[in-house]
Amino acid sequence: MCGIFGCVIKEGNVAPVIHASLKRLEYRGYDSVGIATLNNGEITIKKDQGKIDDAHKILNLDDMEGNVGIGHTRWATHGAPLKVNAHPHVDCSGQIAVVHNGIIENYAELKADLENLGHEFVSKTDTEVIPHLIEDCLKKNPDWTLTEAVVDTIKKLSGSYALAVISVMEPGKIICARNESPLIVGVAPDATYCASDLTAFLPMTNQAVMISDGELVTLTSSSYEIKRIQDGAIIKREPKIIDWTPEMAVKQGYPHFMLKEIYEQPDTLRNTLRAQEHYLELISTFLDRATEVYLVACGTSYHACLAASYMFSKLAFLPTYPVYASEFIEQHGKSVNIDSTILAVSQSGETADTLAAVTCSQQRAATILGLTNTVGSTLTRVSRVYIGQQSGPEIGVAATKTFTSQLSVMAQLALKLSTKRGKVSQDEMDYLAEKLETLPQTVQEIILSQEEKVKALAKKYRDAKIFFFLGRGINTATAYEGRLKLMEIAYVPAVAFPAGESKHGPISLIEAGFPVVFICPKDGQTHKTLIGNIQEMKARGASIISIIEEGDEEVKALSDDYIEVPKGIPEVLSPIPFIIPLQLFAYYMAVERGINPDTPRNLAKSVTVK
Ligand code: AGP
Repeated sequence: MCGIFGCVIKEGNVAPVIHASLKRLEYRGYDSVGIATLNNGEITIKKDQGKIDDAHKILNLDDMEGNVGIGHTRWATHGAPLKVNAHPHVDCSGQIAVVHNGIIENYAELKADLENLGHEFVSKTDTEVIPHLIEDCLKKNPDWTLTEAVVDTIKKLSGSYALAVISVMEPGKIICARNESPLIVGVAPDATYCASDLTAFLPMTNQAVMISDGELVTLTSSSYEIKRIQDGAIIKREPKIIDWTPEMAVKQGYPHFMLKEIYEQPDTLRNTLRAQEHYLELISTFLDRATEVYLVACGTSYHACLAASYMFSKLAFLPTYPVYASEFIEQHGKSVNIDSTILAVSQSGETADTLAAVTCSQQRAATILGLTNTVGSTLTRVSRVYIGQQSGPEIGVAATKTFTSQLSVMAQLALKLSTKRGKVSQDEMDYLAEKLETLPQTVQEIILSQEEKVKALAKKYRDAKIFFFLGRGINTATAYEGRLKLMEIAYVPAVAFPAGESKHGPISLIEAGFPVVFICPKDGQTHKTLIGNIQEMKARGASIISIIEEGDEEVKALSDDYIEVPKGIPEVLSPIPFIIPLQLFAYYMAVERGINPDTPRNLAKSVTVK
């Protein structure tokens, strides 16, 4: 969950380039930062704990010599977020420097062996074994190249890694490699780059080369060479042109990426409605023929799966199992089989728990389908068929536009399936398809008409100690997602559950002023029963905050506060507009509480360790 970056340029100093690129990777982890550059046979390192801007004020990260360098922004797994554990890490001589994203599972025994050989370690990290292993290998084989020593070292590692190595022995070069952690190479006329994520080098080039597990790349300022680690075979792979603009990866005048990405949803929803016919057809055919379907994901993507399970059963009579990826192997690892179909959902396409569930299923011959936002991600390469959700880069750690895009793709899949299965009348289908087309506009209206009201609500409830989020039917998923947003970026404890469950225990927490958020679409069977649940909570003194359709006087009358969304939204599509006020509520609650919504503590955008 760290961000690694490296670059070799023909002329000039790389430090300012690395500094700026690490800033674009900071959403992956911000416990510490470090840069190493190579110049005149010497490696210079600047690193410190904390966020990049704070370290830069003290160290001036731009002021380092050398046209070759690597950098790292950290999310601590092994070793506390302290300067001593910050990357890059070096060998005993300080002539080899390494940055790494991932976890070396067998580092303890490797470290013990190296210490027995006299190597001295300064940090508590797993990563530090890598430069020492390279050093040890070159000491034993002085005529070996750096690449050979890195390959030998990698073969000793077990676990996940994306790593980059520089050494005074071979100036002008970076060696990088990956196994289960993301790594991508960028190619420009006068430079080459390696990074955990293409947004890091997007302002310099949109020519990207995808690197697969078990591959090692040697970069110079004018070339890149890919080798298979196992047998040293050279792999030819041309760069792909990525149609993301650098602007898409900057704030464009918004105070935070999260608010910018909330505002981008009308456009990103329009994108999901375009040009996916072929993949919608392919994936819906697989789902239609499937014996059993698991919808597998983590966090917000899991909430999209939960909502999709309602869409698939309501519109296509297709029962599906939404499963937390981190529980999949325990829950279904033994029963998943050749007749199983897995639809894995991950905006980053790199979430370790989701990929582990996919690998387990693949090993049991299940069919793997993917829904992701990241072209070239691991999920796209392990899927039989995948569909892109077209949200563009999402920098804010909190998933917002990627959630509504996933829901839109799922709704289109459900409509396709329904057509195949003839379970819903053509009129109903046309009505839903037409409503889906209007959702971008609806979302626009909600943001423009309700933002100030939500802001005031966040101010009113800024000191609340806990919240309940309740919904029924498909909006149980909306309640879970609203809760997750508030917890992850505003650090406010919150509980969510199907409203019908409140009587079976949670209602005992209710006392005067206890804020309870209800998601209440007017369409469908749930409206009436939800009113009953609101009255139960109100009777015990709860403060009712309801998300309702314009003109829903019945619920308005029962609510202390309410946010309105436009009329006439079919229940099966309602999570898309109804989540918007909850995204804004979490955002403004964080701002009210003086928290940076883009980089919430203890979190990272892409969780690449299990
Ligand atoms: C959501 O705001 C969080 N960032 C997190 O729960 C996220 O949804 C989860 O880690 C899954 O990420 P993915 O979609 O990239 O797999």
